[in-house]
Amino acid sequence: MADTDEHATPPVSPHLQDVLRKRLSRRGMLAGLAAGAAGLALPRFAFGEEGPRERGTPAFAFRDIPFAIQPDHRVAAGHDAKVLIRWGDPVVAGAPPFDPDAVDAAAQAMQFGTSNDFTAYMPLPRGSEASTHGLLCVNHEYVNARFLFPDEQRTGSFRPARIDAEMAAHGHSVLEVLKGEDGWAVVPNSRYNRRITAQTPMHLSGPAAGHRRVRTKDDPAGRTVRGTLCNCAGGSTPWGTVLMAEENFDDYFRCPAGAGADEAVNHMHYGLKPRPPLAWHKAYARFDVTKEPREPNRYGWIVEYDPYDPTSMPVKRTALGRFKHEGATTVVQPDGRLVVYSGDDEKFQYLYRFVSDGRYDPAKRSANRDLLDAGTLYVARFEDSGRVHWLPLVWGTGPLTPRNGFHDTGDVLIETRRAATLLGATPMDRPEDVEVDPSTGKVYVLLTNNVDRTPSQVNRANPRAFNGLGHILEIDPPRWERSEPVERSVPGDHGALRARWDLFLLGGEPSKGRPNNPDNAAFDPQGRLWIATDQGSYQFRRGVSDGLWACDVDGPNRGRARFFFACPAGAELCGPSFTPDGTTLFVAVQHPGQGRGADGKPLTRDNPCTRWPDFQDDMPPRCSVVAITRRDGGPIAG
Ligand code: FEO
Ligand code: CA
Ligand code: CA
Ligand code: CA
Repeated sequence: MADTDEHATPPVSPHLQDVLRKRLSRRGMLAGLAAGAAGLALPRFAFGEEGPRERGTPAFAFRDIPFAIQPDHRVAAGHDAKVLIRWGDPVVAGAPPFDPDAVDAAAQAMQFGTSNDFTAYMPLPRGSEASTHGLLCVNHEYVNARFLFPDEQRTGSFRPARIDAEMAAHGHSVLEVLKGEDGWAVVPNSRYNRRITAQTPMHLSGPAAGHRRVRTKDDPAGRTVRGTLCNCAGGSTPWGTVLMAEENFDDYFRCPAGAGADEAVNHMHYGLKPRPPLAWHKAYARFDVTKEPREPNRYGWIVEYDPYDPTSMPVKRTALGRFKHEGATTVVQPDGRLVVYSGDDEKFQYLYRFVSDGRYDPAKRSANRDLLDAGTLYVARFEDSGRVHWLPLVWGTGPLTPRNGFHDTGDVLIETRRAATLLGATPMDRPEDVEVDPSTGKVYVLLTNNVDRTPSQVNRANPRAFNGLGHILEIDPPRWERSEPVERSVPGDHGALRARWDLFLLGGEPSKGRPNNPDNAAFDPQGRLWIATDQGSYQFRRGVSDGLWACDVDGPNRGRARFFFACPAGAELCGPSFTPDGTTLFVAVQHPGQGRGADGKPLTRDNPCTRWPDFQDDMPPRCSVVAITRRDGGPIAG
């Protein structure tokens, strides 16, 4: 989602607005693009002044693209970046054509949703390394009503049917995708194509399922939830399921101060508010905490579903804790246990990991089905000495007892934030995505920003006061010494109670290879780290596009990044994912055209800062997924 600090940040400068307006026409944009691309033809392995690498991961065969904000997207020389699917394009059979002036629930539930975020490429057939045929699984995080319902926003009118349309625009899409001579395309009417929305029934499972604090009038058993909310990043499992992370669920509930009786303290920890940005409580009582105090406890989970079975019901896995999950990155431990890393994306919140009790069985898919229902959740405490302690959130131990209101494991999981605070976890600068280097086992933790950190709150893991630029930490788990590692496992002991950590990258000067506000990330099959940025409206003050950076993790260029893909104006980049052979990179461009004008007011559909990707006056800017390939068919970035 657009940076939550947006309200405090400066608007687009009049000068930049003028530049963007002049470039809004397709013709102007194409001319600018051609000029920018000139002179970028590179010999293979041109690396700037440091010269070629000595060892470790292969370096990158491209130079930075220009940083300046433009109406269109751009990609490094030698690559193509084509829009694959846009908000409103058909997903399931029978979907009507997109009509931006009549967005309704029935159409939207069959079309590609809004605010595309996480993407996962899942090969077809399942378990293969197929890199030209697969399922692309995409989160739809949120809606911006100024772009969906501009007239109602202008007049202040309200229709309950609008809430249904917003709910249908949320959730997730599954798309069968095929690479042909003209590049990637969605297979129309595929039996795999599917929409999951904020109305799709899903199971609750794990220790908090059925708990008294998740029981509601609609669901007295506390085991079936309608819908998933605010799906930001995610992950996939080795057995071929997809994980969706429920992030800013507080935006959906009306919660006057003190509402919810004995849940009031709990709701306060998750930031529920009297005047939420969305008005769903006006149409559905369950989003009004004064009427249904426990409904918020049914959101903020990791949701697992099987993209290969379009009839399967998604499952909220409560053992992984309840917070504003940015993502869920899985690794197989050398002993076969599954570890899931997840950040809680809010200022001064924490980094978590889950370690399963059971072991991953590569030979029997069904044996892994409920692996995420039993295990231990840990939270990180970073010490200035360079050591990180993983503190287990186990009911009945330490402060997690009835004395502090924790009467069972369900209580600990429902109130994960409060439990982690009592354990002494380290408050971080907005923990977003986490990625694990498959060749070394080192863990990269992206911290987007925290402008509220005061000088007295600085520590080595969060080393800057008023941190507007963000940074990345690197955790190095201890070596695995106990037994022969199992198939598909990652090096290092990811279940150890202690590990070493270090600073990996500080956001800073882009021209010196320092991306700002690192948010999502991915490793490519060659073991190189890709960093997506989300500067919020700082992008306009800095005049630097958000986009995707490639970064060496070792060798002479360690921690130095190059700018590979630039978003169109106003957008942040989300969800980078690669095909198994590394020849295609999918990225999700979120909220193009949005931001604030020179008058400080939010841009609207009538005056966006770009109309990407259609560039038509009667079409709003549309969040879209882009497929990037190299012109000679080789792996992305050489
Ligand atoms: Fe949805 Fe943490 O960004
Ligand atoms: Ca994001
Ligand atoms: Ca973000
Ligand atoms: Ca990721």
